Amino acid sequence: MSLMGARGLALSAIAVDYGGVRAVRELSLTVAPGEIVALLGANGAGKSSLVRAVMGLVPSSGRIELDGRALQSFGPEARARRGLAFVPEGRRVFGDLTVRENLEVAARTRTAPRRARLDRVIALFPALEALLGARGWTLSGGEQQMVAIGRALMQEPRVLLLDEPSLGLAPALAAKMFELLGVLAASGAAVLLAEQNVRPALAIATHAHVIRRGALVKSVPAAELAMAGDLGALFLG
Ligand SMILES: Nc1ncnc2c1ncn2[C@@H]1O[C@H](COP(=O)(O)OP(=O)(O)O)[C@@H](O)[C@H]1O
Ligand SMILES: [Mg+2]
Repeated sequence: MSLMGARGLALSAIAVDYGGVRAVRELSLTVAPGEIVALLGANGAGKSSLVRAVMGLVPSSGRIELDGRALQSFGPEARARRGLAFVPEGRRVFGDLTVRENLEVAARTRTAPRRARLDRVIALFPALEALLGARGWTLSGGEQQMVAIGRALMQEPRVLLLDEPSLGLAPALAAKMFELLGVLAASGAAVLLAEQNVRPALAIATHAHVIRRGALVKSVPAAELAMAGDLGALFLG
């Protein structure tokens, strides 16, 4: 399959091995600008391994392209400079830094655009404004998740990778977070979303890929999967 020249993120035959454990097997998919692609699957299916491989955080084979240009020879920092941002599982907010510092640490730019980016993130997550001076360790789980996503948005990414961003969020906050991903995609970002929280992910996604033991077992428009009755059976097969 030739993916050369495609806009957005294109993965071709990605494989991840952990010393004999094959976590991802020759997996291919694309995420165009404006799309939200949901990567669904049971615990251990290989979702985290795939998104971490795309960010360059675990070694992989295969081809990773952004707008037709190969990324696989670059490390995570260089991939970030080229427009990839990653929200890892379990948040990773710096406890000793304030919320403002946690956000600004991601924007490697001069003062003026940094301020404009901060304003944009606060426009998306108004609740962050009152928290700007609070230290990371004082935040609730939901607040930390907002900061983690806000930090990725400070990079104004062209591709946003998220690993189970709704994990540990109260349903109302998770709904808000998913809604925000929709806004982000509408502004032209390509979003790849690994989730176990299937229904709300399908509600905002354009495409869905079900992954089982590291391989895609189903790739469909999200709306089609949303109508399927027993999603659990599909995952566990
Ligand atoms: N660092 C690691 N070392 C060895 N095996 C791992 C490591 N991380 C994940 N795995 C294994 O790879 C497979 C896929 O895991 P993972 O990508 O975390 O799946 P998911 O995110 O879908 O739960 C599992 O069998 C898991 O045990
Ligand atoms: Mg995972």
